[in-house]
Amino acid sequence: MYFKNFSVKKKNLIPFLTPTSKGTNWYDSPPSNKITKRQIGRIILQFHQVASAIKEFTNNSKIDFLDIGTGNGLLPFLVSKYLNCNSSTGIDPYEDGEHQTSWPIGTKNRLKSEIKKILEKKVLDIQNYKHLISHEAISFEPKKINLYKKKSNWIFLKKFVHEIKNKKKYNFIFAKSIDHIPNWKNLFLNVSKISSKNATLFIKHNSFFSYNGAHRYASTFIPWGHVILKEKEYESYAKKIHPKRYKEMVNFYYNGLSYPRNTLDDLFDILSKNNWKIIHLEQSNKKKYLEQIKLAGGVKKLLNDTKKNFSNISLSELISDRIIIIAKKI
Ligand SMILES: C[S@@+](CC[C@H](N)C(=O)[O-])C[C@H]1O[C@@H](n2cnc3c(N)ncnc32)[C@H](O)[C@@H]1O
Repeated sequence: MYFKNFSVKKKNLIPFLTPTSKGTNWYDSPPSNKITKRQIGRIILQFHQVASAIKEFTNNSKIDFLDIGTGNGLLPFLVSKYLNCNSSTGIDPYEDGEHQTSWPIGTKNRLKSEIKKILEKKVLDIQNYKHLISHEAISFEPKKINLYKKKSNWIFLKKFVHEIKNKKKYNFIFAKSIDHIPNWKNLFLNVSKISSKNATLFIKHNSFFSYNGAHRYASTFIPWGHVILKEKEYESYAKKIHPKRYKEMVNFYYNGLSYPRNTLDDLFDILSKNNWKIIHLEQSNKKKYLEQIKLAGGVKKLLNDTKKNFSNISLSELISDRIIIIAKKI
């Protein structure tokens, strides 16, 4: 089947999605009350990457940690329990199960006890949990970290960033959520207001422009279809090809994914305008990116098709998996 001269095939998408649980459709969210090895590994790796960045980029100063779009709050919990910090806060306007991308209900406590088994050692070493992260895209391994063991003392704020009213300033800000937050200009203006001078900002990014940038909920059967189709074309595509879930699909495309769309270059521009200097950039690419480029008709065609809508998009961003950006407030 074709849509606007683009070949529409299920096999352009399904083999590139992480498998869903048995008995669910490829476009369904993970089920409630069920934890997976993959989730456990993902949280431990995220904590390890943050701990490693704190060690490397903060002169061992005491940390006032903020996790934007924290989801189930496990990251600020782990930071407060196992690292040397003054305070640890997680914010998210939605709690488990309230946003399509948030954590499934009924999984937090079981995840905590599984994670504890790995973190109850004095040192965090990737070798101890490598068997849990075979699906994670990392370009290099975080170093060994000494762990503390304290009573956990962290705060959850059910808020949007712009709703943080107190005068407190944070000196280490983490976000693995910006791909779902609209209006980055406002977001980073507000992040700047609540961060101290020389603060560290750690963004773990999943670009909209990557092969799976529309997540399973708004992905098409056209390679990079969410980038290549113009907005109105995307709506007609969804209506024609996915008539039963067309409304949910279009809703996620506009409201579940950051809007307006910004490339990595746009993000760097927004960060520098808000006094953030990038000090570290790390990118892992999709394991099967060569195959994906082939499906899209080659590099030249892919760039031609995508640049029509987004003139400053790069091949590097199109093939990206996780991108880590670390910046310092100047
Ligand atoms: C992919 S989840 C990541 C959760 C968590 N950071 C993690 O790594 O597991 C994205 C999170 O962004 C949150 N979110 C969505 N819109 C947001 C907004 N406007 N401001 C802050 N967080 C938002 C969702 O509730 C969700 O928890």
